[in-house]
Amino acid sequence: MSHEHTSATPTEHQVRGQFTTKIGFALAAVGSAVGLGNIWKFPYIMGESGGAAFILVYLICIALVGIPVLLAEFVIGRHGQTSAVGSFRKIAPGKPWWLNGLLGIVAAFFILSFYSAVAGWVLRYAVLGVTHGYEGVGADQFLGFIDSIGGPVIFQFVVMFLTGAIIFAGIEKGVERVATWMMPVLVVLLLLVVLRALTLPGAGAGVAFMFKPDFSKIDGGVILVALGHAFFTLSIGMGAMITYASYVGKKQNLGTTALTVGAMDTGIAILAGLAIFPAVFAFGMEPDAGPGLLFIMLPELFAQMPLGRAVGIAFFTLVFIAALTSTISILEPVVTYLVDDLNIGRHVATAVSAGIIYVIGIPACLSAHSGGLLGEVKIPFLGGGLSIFDFLDTMSSKFMLPIGGLITCLFIAIAWNRKAASQEVVGEGGNPGHPLVSLWYYLTIVVAPLGVLAVLIYGIRELLNKG
Ligand code: PHE
Repeated sequence: MSHEHTSATPTEHQVRGQFTTKIGFALAAVGSAVGLGNIWKFPYIMGESGGAAFILVYLICIALVGIPVLLAEFVIGRHGQTSAVGSFRKIAPGKPWWLNGLLGIVAAFFILSFYSAVAGWVLRYAVLGVTHGYEGVGADQFLGFIDSIGGPVIFQFVVMFLTGAIIFAGIEKGVERVATWMMPVLVVLLLLVVLRALTLPGAGAGVAFMFKPDFSKIDGGVILVALGHAFFTLSIGMGAMITYASYVGKKQNLGTTALTVGAMDTGIAILAGLAIFPAVFAFGMEPDAGPGLLFIMLPELFAQMPLGRAVGIAFFTLVFIAALTSTISILEPVVTYLVDDLNIGRHVATAVSAGIIYVIGIPACLSAHSGGLLGEVKIPFLGGGLSIFDFLDTMSSKFMLPIGGLITCLFIAIAWNRKAASQEVVGEGGNPGHPLVSLWYYLTIVVAPLGVLAVLIYGIRELLNKG
């Protein structure tokens, strides 16, 4: 997208930057959704939460809550044509709904501070392939790296610098163009790795782990993780998708885009699982290795693959690009808010917000594992203590995003009228009477909010009991 306007509050008459092609917006949205959430986080939380049973709950959350809320954000953003805060304000003037946009800004700070640390690890592993290869790289190397002080913080800096620089220079469009070929290449690489993983002796146990549900594994905590991840992976609940949709043209059918984004995002997460779990079981490792899972398993697999080094370098590089198209989308709502609502110049807004997030990110980076400099620092939390890294992750995914999404649903139900919202779903000239539009409406105003509320209450109670 481009940002022709430099003044703070674009009026109706000013032309605001817009995605020029139909595919541009879909690509940006997919670029935001597909990232570390799919390739790093989904496999490890699935491994910790019981495999197939978790996947089932997760898919239900995506279908009944995730996609409806995603579409709600698209609709609000395109109608508002400004930041998340501004869009809530414009549709419901004089009401406090815009505070939901502010909650999203806080969530963006939380998420990006640990997300940038993990994106730094990915970059480290791409570089590692070039300098050393993946032979003999396992858990010890991974923990040695993330427990060290200089390396991870420097790589994290590179991530925040690149994220800020791309937004600063206004070349998100260029990044979208990169995303055009990035997704297909990423899928092909994933398929190669999946193929290698599936042909390992003993791989079947990994497939069974992912597709044969053991329902006794499901409890309130697992449902909360699945719901939180549905929000995280679709980039919803904090205004990122509202912001992106504020740049989309009036004719596009947003319902189709939401379905496409949901399907691509889910497909890539499942592929990432299929790349990792067959190998976990074939190598006789534990599925609940935690945040290191991707970095411990894949090098072993690359070491056993023809052209493994090249595949590994390409893979980590692509995951890094996928992570960057997500970090941009986390920083963009913050910058758009500072520019559109607080009259701050775009360059200053970008530099300051990226800088602050990097500074908050350093403690996150140094607390990712118990052996790190700040690894033993505990923040008291719901019947237990969490490391800084886990606190930022837990607070944002399990609470801030679902609460943000819940408020967005209530906004559609209470603050807006069905007719206008439905027309915005299908775009100018579209048919708002389509049954899928009605389905979306009821999922958004009834099923999703009740579901989120129930899971939050049930999940929190369970966490308290466990503590
Ligand atoms: N959806 C991104 C991922 O899965 C992360 C993200 C969360 C991006 C929230 C924007 C907003 O990697």
